Amino acid sequence: MSHILLGQTLTFIGNPWQMPPADAVQHITHGAVLVRDGKIIEVGSADTLRAANPDIPVTDYGKGLLMAGFVDAHAHYAQTAIIASWGKRLIDWLNSYTFPEEMRFGSAAYAHAVAERYLNLNLANGITTASAFCTTHPESVDAYFEAAQKRGMRMLGGKVMMDRNAPEALCDTALSGYEESKALLHKWQGVGRLGYVISPRFAPTSSETQLEAAGALWAQFPDALMQTHLGEQHEEIEWVAKLFPGHADYLAVYEHYGLVGPGAVMGHAIHLTDREWGALKDSGASLAHCPTSNTFIGSGLFDAQKAHDLGIPTGLATDVGGGSSFSMLRTMATAYEIGQLRGNALHPAQLLWMATRGSAQALRLGDRIGNLAPGFEADIVVLNLSSTKVIEQRVEGADDFWETLFPTIMLGDDRAISAVWINGKPA
Ligand code: GUN
Ligand code: ZN
Repeated sequence: MSHILLGQTLTFIGNPWQMPPADAVQHITHGAVLVRDGKIIEVGSADTLRAANPDIPVTDYGKGLLMAGFVDAHAHYAQTAIIASWGKRLIDWLNSYTFPEEMRFGSAAYAHAVAERYLNLNLANGITTASAFCTTHPESVDAYFEAAQKRGMRMLGGKVMMDRNAPEALCDTALSGYEESKALLHKWQGVGRLGYVISPRFAPTSSETQLEAAGALWAQFPDALMQTHLGEQHEEIEWVAKLFPGHADYLAVYEHYGLVGPGAVMGHAIHLTDREWGALKDSGASLAHCPTSNTFIGSGLFDAQKAHDLGIPTGLATDVGGGSSFSMLRTMATAYEIGQLRGNALHPAQLLWMATRGSAQALRLGDRIGNLAPGFEADIVVLNLSSTKVIEQRVEGADDFWETLFPTIMLGDDRAISAVWINGKPA
């Protein structure tokens, strides 16, 4: 089945972190995208593409901006219901809000209800792929992947492995965490567009035996991704030092158990030593920048420039529900503000890169999703660049494309998402 979408188009032809940012983007004002059987076949000028394909049905999005769907590199779908919970920092926030909520996912019915809600919210915000932590319950993973399968979405996720420092009812054991993760990996990895992610929550909630088991599982299934948390808050880092004496730093704990390497996605990575930065660079691991979470929970200011200067694949992430928004526009806006607080105004092309291509590469999907270009899967978002009164008046008389786009990044939300296409079909 073929279809032509008309609108402005945005395609990355280079990496805006490695060249003058605007030169990394091809923007066509009267553009068109030809999709067939779930793939992008061609991106070009509307007139040329339509003339060459007169019989293919057309959807005209007018001045809407067609670009790759957003890719959320790190989220917790089971925290949907507790997003925006007041007044705590990481450890207290986990104990007060997160763990009690995650306990509810022992009920398959509840897990299904939240998985449906979570994916609908993702689609409403133009997120076409995410890598999510589920809970320790295998039911939570089945619910998540079943809901993703129903929508034809390319989604990643896995069962949280956690055997200590959490309520007993929410803990697995080193053995059950391993066995259940392995069974779920067999069940879901590579099924349709789904991918399994081995997901030890973070060092403080896993025993040494569990971290060893997680490393052993990953060694058996290196095609699966591995996701965890690293260097988010000072209290957490001090706790890791107490729980794991004798290691050089936080990352060294993961290194010791074989959890650092290509396909590892480390959430946050705010407070790192020079040794950790260097070891991450050498390892081939990826980072997930979670800006709204980092400001909301009061964690700190991630150094996106340094990550890119070192060539570490870095994605953008909502970190729902520590993150305070489902919107990747809001998430880019907060990344911009964090950049400003570090003395570095990130270019809109750099923000968009992290939200699409950067996240896709961080999740080892860079050859399939994250760009509006021939050969990529047709996961497409259409942005309305005048979605509210304040944006509309701001872009009146804008001088160039970037000035037209930046207000939507800073001020936009789900109202700016005009349409989403999943695998070549309107969602
Ligand atoms: N560290 C360990 N678990 C979590 C979590 O659920 N959210 C965040 N933001 N950090 C974590
Ligand atoms: Zn997280």
